[in-house]
Amino acid sequence: MSVEHEKQRAAEAAAELVEDGMTVGLGTGSTVAHLLPALARRGLSLRCVATSPQTEEAALTLGLRVEPFGSIDCFDITIDGADQIASDGWLVKGGGAAHTREKIVAAAAARFVVIADSSKRVTALHPPVPLELLEFGLAATMRLLHPVSLRDAPRSPDGGVIADYHGAVDDPAGLAALLGATPGVVEHGLFPPTLVADVFVARGDSVEHHN
Ligand code: 5RP
Repeated sequence: MSVEHEKQRAAEAAAELVEDGMTVGLGTGSTVAHLLPALARRGLSLRCVATSPQTEEAALTLGLRVEPFGSIDCFDITIDGADQIASDGWLVKGGGAAHTREKIVAAAAARFVVIADSSKRVTALHPPVPLELLEFGLAATMRLLHPVSLRDAPRSPDGGVIADYHGAVDDPAGLAALLGATPGVVEHGLFPPTLVADVFVARGDSVEHHN
């Protein structure tokens, strides 16, 4: 069974949670690319906010109503992919460099739902951890964060520089606190289990649902 098929199966299962009239946060990435048509097919009246220009464009093309983040201050549900899902519930996100907006939209949701293919399940998180950094003082921030590398990626839509932290991730809570407390770090890609309500992981044709 292909990875794309698993992504589609997980996305379609999560799309069933969405009800008419809901406010919906839309994540970013190739798994979310399967979510958008699954949502559009349901023909519900939704108010969506996208976490990236790519998601916004794809959602609008499918006829979903996308609004700026500002007119909505909370979501009934946010659905997004992940790069790693550890057995203790921690996530790594930001492979698509959208983790800052994704974390804001996840935190604003009553229910944050993660969708993934089976390759995203890991026993324990491993590097790299995506970062978004301020341009101001970039060299000094990188010195504090060592070992870190700049990613060959465009700036975020908010002007941030995308980088990756390559140190150990065996204490995600400690590392999240350290990264979050480092001046110049706009956001990091560690998402705590407390943020996550549901995880849908497809394995072959079946979908595991944890909540
Ligand atoms: C983007 C993300 C994505 O959700 C994550 O990279 C997973 O992507 P994909 O669904 O393409 O495997 O965090 O910043």
